[in-house]
Amino acid sequence: MTGADACLASQLLPADVARIEASAGWRKERVEVLDVSVGRVIVKGHRPRRKPARHRALNAVARLVGVPILRAVPVHGGAASQAVEIRRLRALRAAGVRVPELLHVAPEYFVMRWLGGNHLASALSEGVPAAFDLWREAANAILDTHRRGQYLSQCFGRNVIVGTAADVAGFQGFIDFEDDPLEVMGLPEAQVRDWLIYLQSTLWQVPATPSQIDAVLDACLQGESESVRRLFALACRRLAWLRRLPAHRRWGRDTLAVRAVATLAHRWRQRHGA
Ligand SMILES: Nc1ncnc2c1ncn2[C@@H]1O[C@H](COP(=O)(O)OP(=O)(O)O)[C@@H](O)[C@H]1O
Ligand SMILES: [Mg+2]
Repeated sequence: MTGADACLASQLLPADVARIEASAGWRKERVEVLDVSVGRVIVKGHRPRRKPARHRALNAVARLVGVPILRAVPVHGGAASQAVEIRRLRALRAAGVRVPELLHVAPEYFVMRWLGGNHLASALSEGVPAAFDLWREAANAILDTHRRGQYLSQCFGRNVIVGTAADVAGFQGFIDFEDDPLEVMGLPEAQVRDWLIYLQSTLWQVPATPSQIDAVLDACLQGESESVRRLFALACRRLAWLRRLPAHRRWGRDTLAVRAVATLAHRWRQRHGA
């Protein structure tokens, strides 16, 4: 724990902390949802250094098409990852980005506000009626994050919490900040990487026509800085040929996901002459 972590005044009562420390849940499963004095919270423990398996597809594409910004960012694991996540959560919240409120930091875990039990990836795969609206809302939230001078890093559909009930509807916030792309790249690269990660993880399941999708993308990229637009155009140039990947489901979701982004990249080039 760093000095800065120790400075966080806990928002929890000593009884809440005692209950969390006695709980086996987060030690076993790494995350645990608990109802405590301040409401529903999530406890996140450390995880051992992880092989970047879940970034494999992105890494392969990055190598294949020479878009280095798609490369995975190092995840240090253990206490170092927790320190990164706490730093990023604080910076994002201070900038006004919707991320969970940090409630308590301890050497082996931290506690944050629970944002809800649904994420965008499941809303898309279940095909809920609001799926396209949720996708557009989250895209606008990414733009808003960038306009505040910030970046996300792991804005995969499963890290975008959404509400799909009548009482809790719409985008609720971004989660999961264990890596910091600014360790290995600049701000505009990290922001373009956010778009590519978001598109790669969601686009293939978005229930909308190409022109509806393009309208959202054009409006969002219009709001980005010149350097982000330039890097995005470059990525589109490098990715567009992958639209020729096979479209059949038996080729697996990674192929479908990359193909969907490549098809969008091709359309982008046609519209913008990039
Ligand atoms: N603040 C939060 N609100 C709601 N659910 C959360 C929150 N933080 C984490 N989760 C849940 O815990 C899971 C794992 O947490 P996450 O931060 O994404 O870690 P990782 O993906 O690295 O395991 C998430 O997929 C989500 O279901
Ligand atoms: Mg996650």
